[in-house]
Parts: sequence; C-alpha cells; structure tokens
Amino acid sequence: MTTVGFLGSGHLGGSIARLAIAAGHRVVLSNSRGPETLADMAAELGPRASAATSGEAVAAADIVVVSVPVKAFPGLPATPLAGKTVIDTCNYGPERDGHIPELDSTSLTSSELVLRYVPDAMFVKAFNSIFFKHLLSLARPAGAADRSYLPIAGDSAPAKAAVTEFIDSVGYGVVDAGRLADSWRQATGTPVWGTPYGPPSNEKGRPAGEDAIRAALATATR
Ligand SMILES: NC(=O)c1ccc[n+]([C@@H]2O[C@H](COP(=O)([O-])OP(=O)(O)OC[C@H]3O[C@@H](n4cnc5c(N)ncnc54)[C@H](OP(=O)(O)O)[C@@H]3O)[C@@H](O)[C@H]2O)c1
Repeated sequence: MTTVGFLGSGHLGGSIARLAIAAGHRVVLSNSRGPETLADMAAELGPRASAATSGEAVAAADIVVVSVPVKAFPGLPATPLAGKTVIDTCNYGPERDGHIPELDSTSLTSSELVLRYVPDAMFVKAFNSIFFKHLLSLARPAGAADRSYLPIAGDSAPAKAAVTEFIDSVGYGVVDAGRLADSWRQATGTPVWGTPYGPPSNEKGRPAGEDAIRAALATATR
C-alpha cells in the first residue's frame, strides 16, 4: 500500500485520489483553503482517506501528487518536498495562470518551471494529458484488452519506476516520453493531449493503447 499525498484535490487531484483508494492505497488530501473544506470528500472516500494541511500531506506521502494551477507553483512547500517522488499533473493556461514568459516562449516546460521552485524533488509529469472524467472511466486492470496508456516524463529513473508502478495499480499503462525537458510533447494542445481518449463531450472516453500514445507523442511539434 502506498500513501499518496495531494497538493490540490480538485477535479483531477480528486479523481486520482478516487482511483488510488479503489486500488487499495491511502490518500492524504490537501488544498489551499484548509483540511476542513475537504472533510466531506475524505469521508466519502472512506477510512484510508484523510484531509490535512499541505505540510502534513507531504510528510505522510510515499508519492506526492501536485495538481494545482501553475500560478500556484511559487507557494508549494519546497523544503518538505525535498527528496520526494512527485507527480506533476499541471498544465499551463495563461487565461487562468496569467502570462509566464518562459512558458509562453517555450524555453521551459511547466515541469522545469516547478523545479525552479522545488529544486530537490524528483518530479514525474503524468496525468496531465487526460480529462479527469476520462481518467475515471477508462481505468482498467493490467492485462485488459482495452487498457489505456498515459505518457510520463521525468529525470529520475527511480521516481519514474515508482510512478509507473502507481499508475499501473490505478488502471493504466505508461509510455516513457523522456525527460522533463521533453514533456512539451504531452503539454496542452499536443496530439497526445486529450485527443486519443476522445472528446470531453463523451464522458466515458475512448480507450487509447500503447501504440496510439507512442504515435501521438512522435507527431508532436513546437
Ligand atoms: N481537470 C482536468 O481534467 C485536468 C486534466 C489534466 C490536467 N489538469 C491540470 O491539473 C491541475 C489541476 O486541475 P483541476 O482541474 O483539478 O483544478 P481545480 O479543480 O480547480 O482544483 C485545483 C486544486 O488546486 C488547489 N489549489 C489552488 N491553489 C493552490 C495553492 N496555492 N496551494 C495548494 N493548493 C492549491 C485548489 O484548492 P482550493 O480549491 O482550496 O483553492 C484545488 O484543490 C491544473 O494545472 C490543470 O491544468 C486538469
């Protein structure tokens, strides 16, 4: 059993928490407003879920999931995150995050930007390329013919291995998309982002296997 700590427990973070609970893990939820605002969600998820401060969520975690707006990166708890394996689900959107010059110019990926604020964590970009409703509905056990795959990117092989194991446990295979600097290939608007799993109007989504995800990553341009 893995303990997964969440910094951000909204649409996507909350969906990953649901899948983690279904897979038998523990989850510790946190957000910007405080644990009392997550009490209902934790109760609904059951005895292996709790709500805590961000510091407590990180301290308890084997794996941390950061699922916040990119504009919240400067406020992430850098010291407690040092040495942790951290999944970065975040996508940059100037309409929500304001303009960030390094991201507008594509001189940095958003995962490289988060490293500037949290330099000593082992980040793995994952879950950022799938709509949260599709994530919930397309989870399948290992070996299922219609299992879907997700791209991951990261600079630490042990962190990638831990995240691969976690993602496998919650119902997805992974395609290794390279390093954090390569994670632009799975950023907003790329071929692998959303499209392989069908339009958001179809909440059930469409399974996308390993070959489809590899092919979509290979056709990304910038
Ligand atoms: N929704 C999707 O389908 C989807 C898919 C792929 C990637 N993503 C990306 O995943 C990230 C989260 O998206 P979402 O749709 O889940 O957003 P959301 O529903 O708005 O949830 C955002 C979460 O982040 C928390 N948060 C905001 N500022 C924070 C801060 N300074 N410190 C700690 N927590 C903070 C919020 O807490 P409060 O409510 O207390 O402020 C909330 O729990 C975004 O970067 C998004 O682009 C989303």
